[in-house]
Amino acid sequence: MRRILIAFAVAGLSATCGLGLAQAQPQPATPPAPDAGAPADPALALVKDRCTMCHDTDIIAATPRTATGWGDLVASMVRRGAQLNDDEKAQVVAYLAKTYPAPAAD
Ligand code: HEC
Repeated sequence: MRRILIAFAVAGLSATCGLGLAQAQPQPATPPAPDAGAPADPALALVKDRCTMCHDTDIIAATPRTATGWGDLVASMVRRGAQLNDDEKAQVVAYLAKTYPAPAAD
């Protein structure tokens, strides 16, 4: 409880300081978010576009793999007919390996 009160006090204090600063040096009211206007991950767009011709993306999330495993899998999907050039394939493999990594072996 005491911690919460202190947190409030500190927040109040910094809000006051912030106000003082804003008056001394006019700043835009709301700074833009760091990723404002950034496009969604292009690799995700590729997955949504090229990996859903034959099945849902659920099948992808359901089978985490190592980077090598994703490389083999994507190569096998390309053999089946997935439309990805080498560059797109590399992006998709990197994205899948990052997003659906194999659980650590224990
Ligand atoms: C041309 C059709 C087609 C496209 C395009 C396709 N797949 Fe598949 N995929 C299949 C078929 C058919 C199966 C089921 C047969 C199997 O598991 O061997 C499958 C199965 C899978 C599985 C489950 C495999 C397993 O062993 O658990 C995953 C994961 C997968 N696909 C991911 C992808 C990804 C990622 C892409 C995009 C790069 C993709 N697929 C594009 C046809 C396709």
